Amino acid sequence: MNIKEILTATIDFFKKHKIPDSRLDAEVLLAHLLDIERIQLYVKYDLPLEPQEVAAYRELVRKRAERVPVAYLTGEKEFMSLPLVVNKNVLIPRPETELLVEYVIDYCQDKGIDGPNIVDVGTGSGAIAVSLAHYLPAARVLGIDLSAEALAVARLNIDKLGYTGRVKVIKGNLLKPLLKMEKDNVDIIVSNPPYIPRNELGNLSPEVRQEPWMALDGGKDGLDYYRQLIKQAKAVLVRGGIIVLEIAYNQGKSVVALFDDDWEDIKVKKDYAGSERLITAALV
Ligand SMILES: C[S@@+](CC[C@H](N)C(=O)[O-])C[C@H]1O[C@@H](n2cnc3c(N)ncnc32)[C@H](O)[C@@H]1O
Repeated sequence: MNIKEILTATIDFFKKHKIPDSRLDAEVLLAHLLDIERIQLYVKYDLPLEPQEVAAYRELVRKRAERVPVAYLTGEKEFMSLPLVVNKNVLIPRPETELLVEYVIDYCQDKGIDGPNIVDVGTGSGAIAVSLAHYLPAARVLGIDLSAEALAVARLNIDKLGYTGRVKVIKGNLLKPLLKMEKDNVDIIVSNPPYIPRNELGNLSPEVRQEPWMALDGGKDGLDYYRQLIKQAKAVLVRGGIIVLEIAYNQGKSVVALFDDDWEDIKVKKDYAGSERLITAALV
């Protein structure tokens, strides 16, 4: 079997199993298996595959037909142009979350903040923490997560990309580790917390339902984590420090209402698709 034949058969198989993006997924998985760029598949269309390659590819295809996300099968996902390791213990970083990172980079550049102390709450794969360290060369970032398994992935990414000096991670419940240490020297708190209302979790796509529940479940109304974080942040931020939170498209008004008079400059930002995606506020 050559590359063209196996791709054609796989695309048909995926279509029968109603896999969205059947061609893209078939190609990404094969390129991953053969350790080549996707574009190379076209150049090598007539190349015959070894029997063990066909067997290994069929195994990946079978798992994809069971709706395992492609990123869990390849073990990688690009975020802010950085290649990150992912597995089933972490949320797969989403392109929408890049907006949060870009906002913080622009904010630091505009304000001339050189070496900010940043805390990333619910760091997961470390996507936000590592990319902030990458694009803000003097930033120090602390990632916190309640999941020890997620932190193991974050550590892999920190090591692999060479940020062990400036990015640390610790296990903890939201900002509690810092509250205990009575640290109030944080310039910027960022978080993409779990924000899906519990009764909507069942409506998620089969792929998203394979991601860690703990990364998705935002409690009864999806706002549990915002309530706690906004309160805790006051004890941790320096005066004038900011909090930057990712939100769902319909949560802007409800999350704005959680900020009291201790906060100013409360802004909701839209993403490139025009949906509300970020909330930022500064501590008075
Ligand atoms: C939506 S995911 C975000 C992951 C990553 N920051 C990203 O944007 O790709 C939320 C993360 O919060 C973590 N989490 C859930 N509850 C937590 C808690 N009480 N304290 C700290 N982290 C928590 C989850 O384990 C998960 O890694």
